Amino acid sequence: MRDRETIDKLWGIASRLPFESKYFIELNREIKIIPSDYFEKEIQHFVLELGSGWGEVAIELARKNPNTGYILMEKNRDRLQVTVREIEKYKLKNIRLICCNFNWFLKELFLEESFHKIILNFPDPWPKKKHWHNRTVNAEFIPVIYSLLQSKCIFLFATDHGGYGRFAIRTFRKSVLFKPSGSEYIFIRKEFPISKFEKEKQSANKTIYYLEREKQ
Ligand SMILES: C[S@@+](CC[C@H](N)C(=O)[O-])C[C@H]1O[C@@H](n2cnc3c(N)ncnc32)[C@H](O)[C@@H]1O
Repeated sequence: MRDRETIDKLWGIASRLPFESKYFIELNREIKIIPSDYFEKEIQHFVLELGSGWGEVAIELARKNPNTGYILMEKNRDRLQVTVREIEKYKLKNIRLICCNFNWFLKELFLEESFHKIILNFPDPWPKKKHWHNRTVNAEFIPVIYSLLQSKCIFLFATDHGGYGRFAIRTFRKSVLFKPSGSEYIFIRKEFPISKFEKEKQSANKTIYYLEREKQ
């Protein structure tokens, strides 16, 4: 539980842009983000990627699906700069960026049922048991993504940390809000972009857990 002073401080940090770019969505504590406000009117389908890294996954998806709007949350300034360069290179109109720690604010930022898909690929695994409470996928996170997704829509998760993969499976099992769409987990995800980070893990023969859950 955070005290009021800490929350105010975090909002202060999250409301500052790391650099100038027209692709950023500026956060305003008083106003929830309505994704359609940030894209052209043909775009009516919205995907949120948490921890987008260098942006390769979203860039590839956005190029293939020009009528889907992608909102990327990433806390690392340099990775966001790389992402902006790629958006400009491909002249993409369907990506917007938020520079914010998604463990600070997530539900507070968006109007309910804003998204058709939420993606979380390779979040920090927090391997030590005493740090598990820092893992993004936990009992509190599930109702948050439930409220942000539309009915029957999808949460995608990937991790190369076996302990975190099994922890996420157990956490979802305990919730009635989502059910697996297909297998409970798979080790190969077909027809989905692969980032440099993921390629490195595959080349090192790391087992990757992929989960797909559907909002009930
Ligand atoms: C291991 S990288 C994976 C990047 C990308 N998802 C991929 O598949 O290549 C994790 C990324 O998530 C970002 N990240 C981790 N925790 C975050 C948080 N709480 N809020 C925002 N970004 C976060 C990191 O800065 C990093 O870019």
